[in-house]
Amino acid sequence: MIESDLVPKTRIVGNLFIATEAERTEPIAGRIIEVAEDESRSETLRDQRAGFIAYVPPGSLARGRALVTLGGATIVDDEIVPGNTTACAACHAPDLLGVGDVPPIAGRSPSYLARQLFDIQSGMRRGPAAELMKPVVARLTADDITAISAYVGSKFPPDPADVEAARPLRGVR
Ligand code: HEC
Repeated sequence: MIESDLVPKTRIVGNLFIATEAERTEPIAGRIIEVAEDESRSETLRDQRAGFIAYVPPGSLARGRALVTLGGATIVDDEIVPGNTTACAACHAPDLLGVGDVPPIAGRSPSYLARQLFDIQSGMRRGPAAELMKPVVARLTADDITAISAYVGSKFPPDPADVEAARPLRGVR
């Protein structure tokens, strides 16, 4: 995960963004640009271990952290002002690796995460379980979704303290 104002120019091949230049010359303009670290390993050889680099707008990780951990709530004049969402750990567990039917989200592709959040918000992704996510995404802006996806995507490996805090939820002692 790299915060950057500028990204390499890319072209889309299949489902992948491929960088067409080494230098970063194109404004990121609020987007998440996820590119294969090594095009031939990812695209031609389908090597599962070939990595990806995700460029995200500057400030995304800090903003995402505030939304994910506190729901974006702030304290103004000693009053708690609710934010645009709900803290994710309440359902996805402190390490964001899920519990029971709630899926793991930590460390997953940020473009995948953003797509799911948009789809749940628009109603493209629906179902009884997705209903639980409806109030979470209802008030998120596109920039909120980018920030949340960047932060959640960066949260792997998880902090040992968060894994420890998640153990009782999973019935592990
Ligand atoms: C009230 C419980 C609850 C809260 C709070 C919650 N989630 Fe979820 N989330 C769920 C459930 C349940 C699902 C599974 C939905 C489904 O199966 O369609 C889910 C699914 C998701 C998915 C799709 C994962 C996949 O495998 O496709 C993403 C991404 C996600 N949540 C992100 C978040 C983020 C980010 C937050 C905090 C801002 C959050 N969730 C807060 C319950 C919750």
